[in-house]
Amino acid sequence: MHDPETLRSQHRARFHADPVLFVAPGRVNLIGEHTDYAEGFVMPVAINFATLAAISPRSDGKIVLYAENYGEEKTFSADATPVASKHWSDYPMGVVSILKGEGHTVPGFSLSLWGDVPLGSGLSSSAALEIATLLAVTSLIGVEYPGPVLARLGQRVENEFVGANCGIMDQFISANGKENHALLLDCRDLSYRLAPIPANVALVIANTMVKHSIVGGDYKTRRAESEAACAIINSHRGSVPFLRDATLEDLEKWGHEMTPKSYLRAKHVISENMRTVAASEALLRGDIKKLGQLMAEAHRSYSEDFEGSCMEADTMVELAQDLPGLIGARLTGGGFGGCTINLVEQSQAEAFAKELASRYAARTGIEPEIHICHASDGAHRIG
Ligand code: GLA
Repeated sequence: MHDPETLRSQHRARFHADPVLFVAPGRVNLIGEHTDYAEGFVMPVAINFATLAAISPRSDGKIVLYAENYGEEKTFSADATPVASKHWSDYPMGVVSILKGEGHTVPGFSLSLWGDVPLGSGLSSSAALEIATLLAVTSLIGVEYPGPVLARLGQRVENEFVGANCGIMDQFISANGKENHALLLDCRDLSYRLAPIPANVALVIANTMVKHSIVGGDYKTRRAESEAACAIINSHRGSVPFLRDATLEDLEKWGHEMTPKSYLRAKHVISENMRTVAASEALLRGDIKKLGQLMAEAHRSYSEDFEGSCMEADTMVELAQDLPGLIGARLTGGGFGGCTINLVEQSQAEAFAKELASRYAARTGIEPEIHICHASDGAHRIG
């Protein structure tokens, strides 16, 4: 990770003020895909790729944002109502907008941002940016929100300002993750359990280099298709406001009234919820083999039933299968590109990463980026 002191001294040089610094991580999801907005279960891990935010107050009524990654500065009036413009500044200004909506007066500030969560790779760079900015701006206005509340505010930035109809998973893990642990989240009531990741298990994240986005497009369509299936089940037996409440028996009973696509999307979501709970139980009792099997089944379901994968991600998962040390592999995140998560025996992780990279390059002609990550703490102040 970037040395926070570098960001601090750059902020001082640019804005002539002493900043306070915050960090918020990206995430990788071990299992539980497209279940969060169905009020189901997810099991993500915060990773050691993050956004850093340095903030200091200003007295001229301006909000000045500087993104080191883009080498770009943007200035806004703190009094004006923020408007989205399909630009990186939508995330920090979305935070300002949501906080204003909560009744806070947001004064002028300077904010320097830097991040190393690979963009468009399904590792939640935007959630990291939202949560880091939320911590920075709330500290400036003297408010301290608990992690789950920060997560909801971050999700609202996406839903209400940016226009991405995502669930709560990414913001929740960025705000509440814990070093060396995965987090099983019940997206209905936001209760959660932490499950330790054994020290001999490595998280190998393999970027297919196919860009992923949740704004519009396929993410939206899949969500709508699964929700249409839910509405049909609900119309028959009631008490099924979300697919979380549906069973595979419901699906068999009323599936013939659904479009074939809706049926398959719901099949994925309902079975994924069951797999995710089983996976957390397996991890809690240290049954890593079982976790790996559930991940494999989750990938099959994500790819074939939800049709949320792509040729490159399927290839990345397939090429990992017979590599020494593999415990389980699947496409992680919103889908249609991005990264696979491979749980690998620690002692084999480097050789695994190297071999997977060369196999993938030989098969697809694309040089992947492969990272051996570890489970990290959620967002916090760093100085
Ligand atoms: C994206 C969204 C999440 C979740 C996943 C799919 O990451 O931001 O809310 O829906 O896709 O599991």
